[in-house]
Amino acid sequence: MRTLEEIFPPFGLRITCGPLELRCVRESDAPIATDLAARGIYEPAELPFLRRWAEAAEHELALNTAQFYWRTFADFRPDDWHLIFLASHEGTPVGVQDVSAKDFIHVRSIITGSWLSREHQGKGIGTLMRQAVCALGFDELGAEEMISGYMVGNAASAAVSRKVGYEPNGQIRGLHPDGDRVRVEQRVRLLPHNFIRAPWPVEVEGAGPFREFIGI
Ligand SMILES: CC(C)(COP(=O)(O)OP(=O)(O)OC[C@H]1O[C@@H](n2cnc3c(N)ncnc32)[C@H](O)[C@@H]1OP(=O)(O)O)[C@@H](O)C(=O)NCCC(=O)NCCS
Repeated sequence: MRTLEEIFPPFGLRITCGPLELRCVRESDAPIATDLAARGIYEPAELPFLRRWAEAAEHELALNTAQFYWRTFADFRPDDWHLIFLASHEGTPVGVQDVSAKDFIHVRSIITGSWLSREHQGKGIGTLMRQAVCALGFDELGAEEMISGYMVGNAASAAVSRKVGYEPNGQIRGLHPDGDRVRVEQRVRLLPHNFIRAPWPVEVEGAGPFREFIGI
């Protein structure tokens, strides 16, 4: 009988870098991520996301998270994929790192986003998470660029991008989720030769089957 990792290779992906572990989520991780988000990610006035998803009541957040995971697994396609990693630091779950790409075989561009529960912020973990997925992208998948973005004013996210070697890549203006003002997103891009790596080696388990799964 086949294992779930053989059927769906993202489940076999695990990245380690010093004290950090990134493991692709299973449905059983939804309550863990819900608990981390419910502890608070930001001050409401500082909304760093395109939607106020993390401010839902906890029972609603739990269902939304589980349904988001199921949708992401179900919608996964080689030409349009999305990985959700649960990040743990020294064995303790701390946050989530998203990695996605469209038409990757040709475009070779990967988009990332992340968040940490507030109690785990400001300790260098977000920088390490980004460095770990950039290593996955460049070294294991052959990405030619890594793309990210943050709302202008998000100093922590801006600092992570700068520390990892990203460069400004234009701004996008849109309506703030509250519907009453503009939000400005700063896009950033990292090219392989500018990548500032983590002080620890990055090890990736399950990269071979994943590469095959997405057609590399
Ligand atoms: C953005 C985020 C992922 C960064 O992770 P983190 O672990 O907190 O960041 P790090 O500890 O790795 O810090 C990286 C740099 O940012 C700086 N930094 C952190 N918080 C800061 C703040 N509020 N103001 C200014 N600089 C800040 C740190 O000093 C550090 O630089 P240094 O090492 O040169 O001192 C995390 O803060 C977070 O989850 N924030 C809320 C959600 C969010 O904004 N997600 C990103 C959406 S685009």
